[in-house]
Order: sequence, then structure tokens, then C-alpha cells
Amino acid sequence: MPKRAPSLPEIGLKTNVNKVTAGTKEIPNIWLRDNCQCTACVHDDTKQRLLDTFSIPKNIAISNCSETEEAINIQWSDGHESQYSKEFLEDAANTFEERAIVRQGITNLELWGSEIVENPPRVRYSETGDTQSLVTDLLTRIRKFGFCYVLDAPATPEATEQILRSIAFIRETHYGGFYDFTADLASKDTAYTNIALEAHTDTTYFSDPAGLQAFHLLEHSGGEGGASLLVDGFKVAADLLAEDPEAYGILASTNVHSHASGNEGIYIQPYRGFPVFQHDPATGIPLQVRWNSSDRAGVELPIDQVEGWYDAARKWDALLKQEENEYWAKLEPGKILVFDNWRVLHGRSAFTGKRRICGGYINRDDWISRFKVGYFGKDRILERLATG
Ligand SMILES: [Fe+2]
Ligand SMILES: [Zn+2]
Repeated sequence: MPKRAPSLPEIGLKTNVNKVTAGTKEIPNIWLRDNCQCTACVHDDTKQRLLDTFSIPKNIAISNCSETEEAINIQWSDGHESQYSKEFLEDAANTFEERAIVRQGITNLELWGSEIVENPPRVRYSETGDTQSLVTDLLTRIRKFGFCYVLDAPATPEATEQILRSIAFIRETHYGGFYDFTADLASKDTAYTNIALEAHTDTTYFSDPAGLQAFHLLEHSGGEGGASLLVDGFKVAADLLAEDPEAYGILASTNVHSHASGNEGIYIQPYRGFPVFQHDPATGIPLQVRWNSSDRAGVELPIDQVEGWYDAARKWDALLKQEENEYWAKLEPGKILVFDNWRVLHGRSAFTGKRRICGGYINRDDWISRFKVGYFGKDRILERLATG
């Protein structure tokens, strides 16, 4: 390769003997050397870094540099040789927002209200079907809408559990793992009774609340009621932001504590308080709504300043209860509801009779991982590890 200082105007990448520049951004040598993608620097199977970053001399420099159509080759002053695809270097120079797309599994969000009843997202279970593509379709819709049904599923706990396990492992909690219960107050939580439940997210009392939740109504006999309520937390949060930015700001910045204390010997509280709304600080995209007034413990404000939080929460609560934001759905055997517990709030009307429901939780990181594999593919995810 000839020793020269190539200029690559067509993609905005430039190198000279000292530096690589992507667009207007100079890429520091330490970053380039640390992110060499060769098999001596990154383990081929695990994609873990093999290179001891801090063995790289602080004054690492480019000794020689050349380019091909696809890549830039660098010979380093420590004797190592690296090759970087131009795409990799362009990705590195992208804005935070672009960089987050694959890492965070970002898709366009479709916000909804009660009108979603006309055309709720759904996929169809097929007996012979390929569970992998069913799961990818299911999770892609959940990512976009916050929930999706699986229709025509066998009305059994086994089939429900199998679908959930093809997303990821089912999360164990103090209530158990995959559950199949009939309302009898076996577990000391109002979810196990027949009273109405206001819209809420589950497990606000965990540091890492459950990511997905599934409900499959297997039987409801000898009574009525028990309609399921879903509310798009991201949509209602956006409404609150538009109507009352100050109230929104209070709920996005005040930490609130939660607890689970109804079971003998179990007193769970998160390691810190969390605000009702969380965003990615780099991209501003909404990440999580955490709202369960029943399980709320302390609001992290001096006692003489809590009134502002109550005023803001009252506005949020009123918006959550507006008819135009409530999607009421009747669950039935064969129709599995799976939803994003970090976005969609759920509730239910009171009911009579015998009601048997099965379901479970899946961790947020695990379902997003499964979604990303199906939606972006393994190669795109791995290419983005250093630059995402
Ligand atoms: Fe719940
Ligand atoms: Zn290397």
C-alpha cells in the first residue's frame, strides 16, 4: 500500500498521517486503536474486547495509512495493523440519535387512544407455524404499539408458556414464574381479587420493572365483567407535555418510591426512587412510564414541597382516565395479550364468576434483545457494538 494522505470526499472521511476525520469530527487515535476489530483485539465468537485498552501508549500515532474502496488501513506506532470499514467510521461519527437506533431497538412509535379498538395490532398463531417469525412479528408490533394479540392460539397454559419462552425466559418473582390462577386471593395482591383495577404498570417496586407481560384468559364462567383496560402511557405523557409542561417536568424529575409488602417475609423496594417518566438523556426518546398508585411509597421531596407533585400527578391521572385514552378489550380463550409494561398501563373492570388467567413476565433487556435479532439481524447488531 502506498504511503499517502488519502482524501475521501465522497463519504466525508478524511485521513492524513496523524488523524482520521469523519465529516467534521476528528476521531481520536486512542478510540481507533481501542476499537480495532481484528480477531487479536476482539474475540471472534464472544465479541468481547481482548485488547488491554490501557496498554495502548497514550501517544499512540498513525505510522502509515492507506485506503481501499471499502476500508481504511492503519499501521500504528505500536506496530499493530488495523483495518476499519468506511461504514464503521461513519457510524462512529453519527449523532447520538442515529447511533441509538440499533442499540436501543428504536422503531417508529405509533401512539394511540381508544380508537385502537377498531384495528388492534395482532398476529395469528399457526399450528404448524414457525415460532421464530411469529415472535418477530409479535415483538415488532409491540415495539411500535406497545401491545399485540396472538389470535387463534390454543387455549391452554402450555401453548401460552411456549410462546412466551420463545421470546425469552420467564421472569420469576415472589409470586412465581409462569402463572395460571383463578381469582381466589392466593397471593396477597389486589390483582388476584375480583375488584376493579385502575390503569397501572406492574412491578414498580422492582429496580428493573417487568418488560413484557402476557395475559391469556382461559376461562370465565358463571359471571360477567372483567374487561381489560389498556392505556398508551407514551401517548398520555405526550398529551401532558403538550398541555402542561411544568406538570410533566415535575413527574419526569421527582423520584418516587414503591413497595411490595403483602407477602410474609417479603418487603421489596427499588434501590432508589424513580420518576414517573424516564427518557434517554442522549436522544430524548421516552423509555419508561412507571405508575402504580396502589404500590406507591414515599415521594422524594421535602414534606413541605410535595404538593406540587400531587398537583402534577392529579393532572396525569385525569388524562389517564379520559375516555379517549382508554382502550377496553374483552379477553377470551385463544387470544393472548402481550404488552410492554414500560409503556402501556393496564387495568380491568370488576367481575363476577370464575375467571382463570395464565401469563407471565419477561425482562425488558431480554425481549428487546430478541426483538433486535429478528428486526435488525445479528450482523447489524454486532457491527454497531463499538459505534452504537
Ligand atoms: Fe397489573
Ligand atoms: Zn487489532
